[in-house]
Amino acid sequence: MASGDDRHNAAAVADDRITASPVYPRGSRVNERGHLEVGGCDLVELASEVGTPAYVYAEDDIRWRAREFTRALSERADSFEVLFASKALPCTAAYALAADEGLSVDVASGGELRMALAAGFDPSRIHLHGNNKSTDELRYAIDSGVGQIIVDSLDEIARLEQLLDQPQRVLIRITPGITASTHSYVQTGQEDSKFGFGLADGLAEQAVGAVRAAPHLELVGLHAHIGSQIFELEPFTRAIEILAEFTRAVDLQPELLNIGGGLGIAYVEGDRPPSIDEYVDVKVAGVQRAFDPVPRILIEPGRALVGNAGVTAYRVGTIKEIPGVRTYVAVDGGMSDNLRPMLYGSRYEAVIADRAGDAPDTSATIAGMHCESGDVLVEDAALAAPRVGDVLVTPATGAYGYAMANNYNGAPRPPVVFCRDGDARVVVRRETWDDLLARDL
Ligand code: LLP
Repeated sequence: MASGDDRHNAAAVADDRITASPVYPRGSRVNERGHLEVGGCDLVELASEVGTPAYVYAEDDIRWRAREFTRALSERADSFEVLFASKALPCTAAYALAADEGLSVDVASGGELRMALAAGFDPSRIHLHGNNKSTDELRYAIDSGVGQIIVDSLDEIARLEQLLDQPQRVLIRITPGITASTHSYVQTGQEDSKFGFGLADGLAEQAVGAVRAAPHLELVGLHAHIGSQIFELEPFTRAIEILAEFTRAVDLQPELLNIGGGLGIAYVEGDRPPSIDEYVDVKVAGVQRAFDPVPRILIEPGRALVGNAGVTAYRVGTIKEIPGVRTYVAVDGGMSDNLRPMLYGSRYEAVIADRAGDAPDTSATIAGMHCESGDVLVEDAALAAPRVGDVLVTPATGAYGYAMANNYNGAPRPPVVFCRDGDARVVVRRETWDDLLARDL
């Protein structure tokens, strides 16, 4: 049997492992009870209080990253803006936090716009995206005084102009013809893309002509977003050079240059994404080299702001051991709260929050509760003696987890909880079974 001292040492080692891990929210640790703590909150206790599954964020981690992006830009650029790509975590509290940190915001639909406005965002700091914005969405944006609309098609340019009786600042979204090395589902800069205007086919030039000819549209700049979860920075430099060449070709001096988001994060130990400084450095230096005069530099991080700030807490419900095959540990969520493993083959880690300080001794497949064999959250997770009733936590679920949550198999969507200094604040309540009936007529 392990002595008290051994246990203490094991906890200390694991504590270091969690604390030092880039995968967990900053400030996470194993507490004196051997439980995982995030934002000062004991996740075993929190799971009992708010139920499972639950998205749990260390609020200070998001704030810290927001400040890091702002600092990194302020040290390098005279004029810049950091936009929260809100599709990564579209809930009112996240918008309010971004506004509080002085960020601007990128919204990708009328729904996201509604949330940004409800959170009190200054409309002039809102940038509206979308490859097929509806007339209603455009009208809503105009009526709300949205600062910038990023136009994505010739149809949209015509539609927007028709709706306007006052000037509207617009940026043109360019697809620079760059294929970022990431999952093909999240590549957006290549020529064959549903997004934006390509260069080779002359569409981008046509778009500039169309905007210039539209009496109410004020062309303030260009936008390009080449993809997401990117580790290799060189393609950003190339995209910026291509944009600069294009501005010279069409004789445009952009006031704003929005070069998108895309910075990758660590999902599992061993992932080594570039740092915020490295990423900002490449983007700012690229713009400063390629543009004269240098425009105001805009970046749109989503994942890198919130991804590692959040974890998901589940309850283990059943454990099935198939001798010589594998052990399934089934939790009370799955593809309804984290679609990423099924959609992109994304890998995650897991820890038993009740014994976060113990060394893992069991290799298990973490299955969800949905009626699909492919509903697997983590393959071959290393767990410390998993038991029914344990709280199992997957880190790095802060971006696009809640955002892509769904009600498959009638699963109510989990709450979002912001933790700070040991206080937990439910910022999105759990859906109820009655909520599932609310729209049924
Ligand atoms: N700007 C634009 C125009 C975007 O389309 C996106 C993401 C971003 C910024 C933010 O990119 P980030 O910094 O988060 O990489 N559901 C996928 C991610 C889709 C990203 C879509 N656009 C996932 O779960 O990986």
